[in-house]
Amino acid sequence: MKTSRYLIKGGRVIDPATGIDGFMDILIEDGTIVKIEKSKAQSPKPNDTDQNLQPEVIDASEKIVTPGLIDMHVHLREPGHEYKEIIKTGCLAAAHGGFTTICCMPNTDPVNDNQSVTDYILKKAKLAGTARVYPVGAISRGLRGKSLAEYGELKAAGVVAVSDDGNPVMNAQLMRRALEYAKGFGLLVIAHCEDRNLTANGVMNEGVTATRLGLAGIPNAAETVMVARDIALCELTGAPLHIAHVSAEGSVRLIRKAKAHGLPVTAETAPHYFSLTEEAVINYDTNAKVSPPLRTAKDRDAIRKALADGTIDVIASDHAPHSSIEKDLEFDQAANGMIGLETSLPLSLQLVEMGLMSLNDLVAKMSTNPARILNLGHRGLKPGNPADLTIIDPEKKFTVDPNTFKSRSRNTPFNGWELKGKAVLTMVGGKIVFDETRE
Ligand code: DOR
Ligand code: ZN
Repeated sequence: MKTSRYLIKGGRVIDPATGIDGFMDILIEDGTIVKIEKSKAQSPKPNDTDQNLQPEVIDASEKIVTPGLIDMHVHLREPGHEYKEIIKTGCLAAAHGGFTTICCMPNTDPVNDNQSVTDYILKKAKLAGTARVYPVGAISRGLRGKSLAEYGELKAAGVVAVSDDGNPVMNAQLMRRALEYAKGFGLLVIAHCEDRNLTANGVMNEGVTATRLGLAGIPNAAETVMVARDIALCELTGAPLHIAHVSAEGSVRLIRKAKAHGLPVTAETAPHYFSLTEEAVINYDTNAKVSPPLRTAKDRDAIRKALADGTIDVIASDHAPHSSIEKDLEFDQAANGMIGLETSLPLSLQLVEMGLMSLNDLVAKMSTNPARILNLGHRGLKPGNPADLTIIDPEKKFTVDPNTFKSRSRNTPFNGWELKGKAVLTMVGGKIVFDETRE
């Protein structure tokens, strides 16, 4: 049997799960980490002369080596919307963005509310082979918010959480039952917090900018009242609750308080909520149309602060591919969502550059915390674990060009942005799925 061996040499290895932060060499054999030790200036003298057993050396000097990044909020669109994305292109986009693991949302067609759709996704992901995919099942059948999906069946098929993402669960009683039922199966509930009656016909953040543009607004309260409701239901049921794509200052305040109370609440935000404001839509750029909407500078700053102080546990892209069919339209007709897998890490590194958080904190929010919240197990850089890791060049400058993306869609408002820092190598189970270390 052919054995594969890699020695990742001289990188700054950061892993909040094991507390490692230092210059280390990592030896990988047959997909598993076998040794992590202080980096030696010289290559170790081989004991044997068999050239086949010499590890292939990956030079990681001047680079950062982290446990494989995890994006717990991605839309892969397959089955049903293959013209926007397929599992294969989504997984390749993940690899190129530095993600070894992604969770995919159930708003496909058919909806992932049963075993056959979960099976299908897992089969396609295995064939794609460039990222680990953990499907998220639906909270309610068909995402219709009327009756619960079969969580036992979904759990057995391999889902790690349930969510009606894209749609809120408007019925509080159904949400209560979802939390109780999911808790029984050890499934996390991921809440898309939005009161649709408050959203009404709104298409962007409510305020003077919306008025000036002549567009109907969505108030912060559309999100915040649902965050309040779901925290109350979390307290009632004792079930873990994860709040998706937090965008509003008031939501942050409630989550901070809930955590201080000791409730099992966690939260995520997406790079666009800490990188952009509603100003991004002033040219009616439909690529900046997203749900929840981009908010004000005050909200953006509150999100940044919540990331810094630990109120928000996770950065997830909410990668939401759409084609020109849904985006080249009048602003109020266009679909919500933007792609994010290939810009998430560089945009997040800006938070470190701004001095808002340490690299350790960033790795926690993009790997350690999602792994813990989702109970993924066997994560982190330690001997015996699968060799899932990301090598980041923190100095590499590049210009965002959607035409170079592996995603099938191009809907990003970050086109043309000059960014610094990106993934240069991604390894999944000891297999190199992306490598531009020599470019
Ligand atoms: O902007 C969004 N797009 N927000 C969501 O919640 C759903 C997503 C999508 O599926 O396109
Ligand atoms: Zn989403």
